[in-house]
Amino acid sequence: MSRRRRIYEGKAKVLYEGPEPGTLIQHFKDDATAFNNKKHDVIDGKGVLNNRISEYVFLRLNEIGVPTHFIKRLNMREQLIREVEIIPLEVVVRNVAAGSLSTRLGIEEGTQLPRSIIEFYYKNDALNDPLVSEEHITAFGWATTQEIDDIIALAIRVNDFLSGLFLGVGIRLVDFKMECGRLWENDMMRIVVADEISPDSCRLWDIKSNDKLDKDRFRRDMGGLVEAYSEVARRLGIMSENE
Ligand code: C5P
Repeated sequence: MSRRRRIYEGKAKVLYEGPEPGTLIQHFKDDATAFNNKKHDVIDGKGVLNNRISEYVFLRLNEIGVPTHFIKRLNMREQLIREVEIIPLEVVVRNVAAGSLSTRLGIEEGTQLPRSIIEFYYKNDALNDPLVSEEHITAFGWATTQEIDDIIALAIRVNDFLSGLFLGVGIRLVDFKMECGRLWENDMMRIVVADEISPDSCRLWDIKSNDKLDKDRFRRDMGGLVEAYSEVARRLGIMSENE
C-alpha cells in the first residue's frame, strides 16, 4: 500500500493512483467522523461494510444506466474507480424530514415530505459545508446551469431507484448525499455519480420499527453501528454470515 502514490486523503477514504491512467483506487477506512471532524472514532469493520454496500449500490446504478465512477471492487477495502473532477457540492435528496432539515426548519423528524427535496451544500470544511442555492453555484462557477440540470436529473433517478431498492428489503430511504464528478471521454464530458453511497451517507430506517441503520448511530451515540450496517448488507444479500 505504501508503494502507491496517495492522491488525496479524506475523513473516511483515501484515494491512490490507479493501475491505468484515468483510474484511481478508492480505499475505505474505519474512521468515523461527524460534525465536521469534531467527533471522531475508529470503528472496526466499517470500511469493509461501506466498500461492499457502496459497490452493490453503484453496480445496480450502472445496470440501470446511471453513469458512475465505479469500475470494480478490488478487495475488502478497495475499489477501482474512474478519475473524475469532483464538483464541489454535496447533493442531498430528502424524502422524510430528519437531521439538519428538521433542525433548520423545525419540521418534526419522521414527517413525510410533500415531495422529494434536493439541496446543495458547498463542500468546504473550513465553512462547515454551507447550504447554497443554484444562484451561488452558477455565480461562483462551481457548476454551470446545464450541469445543475444534469445533477438534478441524476439525483432524481438515483433517489427513485434507491427508494425502491431499499423498500424491497424493508428499509425506508429517508435521505442521502451524493457527489458528482465530470468525466471526460474522447473530448466529451458527462456528469457521473462519484464518491460512495453507503450507510455513512444515507439515512436508512427500518420500515416497521424505524430503527436507524445508518451513521446517526454514531452521530447520536446510539452504539451498534457495525451491527446496523451489517444488517443493511445482509438484507441486500451481499454478505455471507461469516464475512
Ligand atoms: O445532516 P443532514 O440532515 O443535512 O444530512 C442529510 C444526509 O446527507 C444524511 O443522509 C447524511 O448522512 C448525509 N450527509 C453526508 N455527508 C455530509 C453531510 C450529510 O453524507 N457531510
